[in-house]
Amino acid sequence: MKIKILMVCLGNICRSPLAEGILASKLDSEKFQVDSCGTSNYHIGEKPDRRSIETARKHGIDITNQRAAQFKVSDFDTYDFIYPMDQSNYNDIIKLARNNNDKEKVKLILNELTPNENLDVPDPYYGGEQGFEDVYNMLNNACDNIIKKL
Ligand code: 4NP
Repeated sequence: MKIKILMVCLGNICRSPLAEGILASKLDSEKFQVDSCGTSNYHIGEKPDRRSIETARKHGIDITNQRAAQFKVSDFDTYDFIYPMDQSNYNDIIKLARNNNDKEKVKLILNELTPNENLDVPDPYYGGEQGFEDVYNMLNNACDNIIKKL
């Protein structure tokens, strides 16, 4: 059985597609499955934002095949680890948890980098290209720490 990891943001077009692409690029796909989704239904079926696509491409990662999906309760059964990008996403997922086992799967992604600080990956949607590069670097460092614990 593969270990399954789900990255979650609001729209599933900016942050979590990058997180999925970065972590998947570092893991053996025979042993691990990495996916992403959004807590909202705003962009279901869409490709990642062109700025996320371009930022990933600059770092040698192709995320053009990803399509946005919405988080669903059955994801608690499918995934071993669920990483929301910010506290709002965290709260929205926790509200859907059916029991403690579901809740224990959910960890704010930047707590893997800066434990217990509850920092958010800033939403780059309304900003410029640099915001996406900053998000890339945070997620790249967080993913390195996630891998150390797997
Ligand atoms: P994401 O960014 O959650 O990182 O994918 C957003 C994308 C779209 C919207 C909000 C955040 N939106 O409101 O459409």
